[in-house]
Formats: sequence, structure tokens, C-alpha cells
Amino acid sequence: MVIDVITIFPQMVKEIIKESILKRAQQKNIVKINVHNLRDFALDKHSVVDDYSYGGGAGMVLKPEPIFRAVEKIVGKRKKKGKTRIILLTPQGQTFNQAKAKELSQEEHLLFICGHYEGVDERVRENLITDEVSIGDYVLTGGELAAMVIIDSVVRILPGVLNKKESFENDSFYQGLLDYPHYTRPRRFRRKSVPNLLLSGNHARIRKWRRQKALRNTLNKRPDLLEKIALSGEDQKILEELKRKKVKTATTRLVFKSANR
Ligand code: ADE
Repeated sequence: MVIDVITIFPQMVKEIIKESILKRAQQKNIVKINVHNLRDFALDKHSVVDDYSYGGGAGMVLKPEPIFRAVEKIVGKRKKKGKTRIILLTPQGQTFNQAKAKELSQEEHLLFICGHYEGVDERVRENLITDEVSIGDYVLTGGELAAMVIIDSVVRILPGVLNKKESFENDSFYQGLLDYPHYTRPRRFRRKSVPNLLLSGNHARIRKWRRQKALRNTLNKRPDLLEKIALSGEDQKILEELKRKKVKTATTRLVFKSANR
């Protein structure tokens, strides 16, 4: 995969991609990440990339010409044209999630345009990009951090990036559920023990326990996710049991509360 990033803060991006999994993925030649300074594509000698908003009002807008020039140069260099996802980072975009990470991980070439100030000239949006993506309903100073979030989550699921120990099949969201709880040594810490079942060596029971806990975590923390996935009959049974227990404990608490009033 080739990833290009167009930004007015190239150093911000370069610092992040030289660490951890992103570093390793580049060393293994699984991904090539190129960072481009938008100012290098400005038309004037002062490298101006922004200007006032027509119609008035506060805030600057990124000019169209440097962005068009940068994109055309990057895409023009490629042999296979028309195969690039050109992604604008903006709070107006489709909210990023694991499904989108998986979708993007199947592409050959991603090109990120990091927005800034009040945004970018609308002609960029209308004529150049294939995707508008947001990483959540809040406003960042610029698209760099958002691009890095997306690049990190896409690159880590490319084949060969993670080793077996780090595999992502059990990640939260990968199967539409949150992850199950994890424990490591020591077996007993400040009088708190690791659940015995995890030490039993009984893999079938451990698998079942983990599925139950993943379902419980999702039900308690993100019940909205359960509506989006296909659950097996066994999963549904576990969930009904969990819901019944929850109602029971909630009712018990209520009774207890009113008895003590
Ligand atoms: N730029 C500013 N805020 C953003 C957000 N939430 N997601 C993506 N890009 C942004």
C-alpha cells in the first residue's frame, strides 16, 4: 500500500510515523508513507496556502490551487490512475469506524488531505476528493491527528504487519463486539486473583467464558453495537441471561434502597 499525506505541518506526521507499528510496517515494505508539504505547491514566493472567505466572516480557507497541484502531481506519477482514494479529513465527513478501516485497508493507494482553518475551498470537495472522513463529533485544530488515527488503524490490519501475538482478530470491534477482559502475571496481585477458569487449560471453556465476557462488556458499555451484528443462537441465549441478571440486580438494589429510606 502507498499512503500520501498532504499537510501544512509535515513534521507532525513524520514524527508519528517513525515509531511503533507504523515504523515496522514501513521497514517491512508493507506500506510506503510519503508526507508532502502543501506550501511546496503554492504559486507565490511567500508560499501562501490560505485566504479570506468570500462573503466575509472570520477564519481563513485553504486555497484550491496548491491542493489541486499537489494531488495532480502525486496521482499523475502513478502508473495505475483512478485507483486512489482521496480522503479529506473534516468534521463534516462520514464518521470513521472499524468497518471503514477494513474497507480502506483493501486499497492500493490512499491520499489524505489535512484540512485547516475554516476548511478548504469547496471546489476541492466537489471536484477532487472521493471520501470525506471525520474521526468523531468534535473539532480538531487540523486534519493531521485525524489522518494519523486513520492511518494507524488501517496499517495495523494490513497482512503481515502484526505478528501472531499481536493479532487483531480478537480486537474490540473486529467482530462487532467489545473485547473480553485480559489478565497477565502475577496470578495474585494485592489480594485480587485472576479468574481460575483462565488457568484451567480447558480451551473450550475459556473460549466460552471470553465470548460471554465480550457480550457482557458490549451489553454494559456499548449496547448500540449489538443491534448491528448477527448473533448466533448461543450468543442470544447468553445475552438474555445477562439481561435477566442485570434486571435482577437492578431490582434488588431498588428494593434495598427503598427499604433503607
Ligand atoms: N478536522 C477537524 N476536526 C476533525 C475531525 N473531527 N475529524 C477529522 N478531521 C477533522
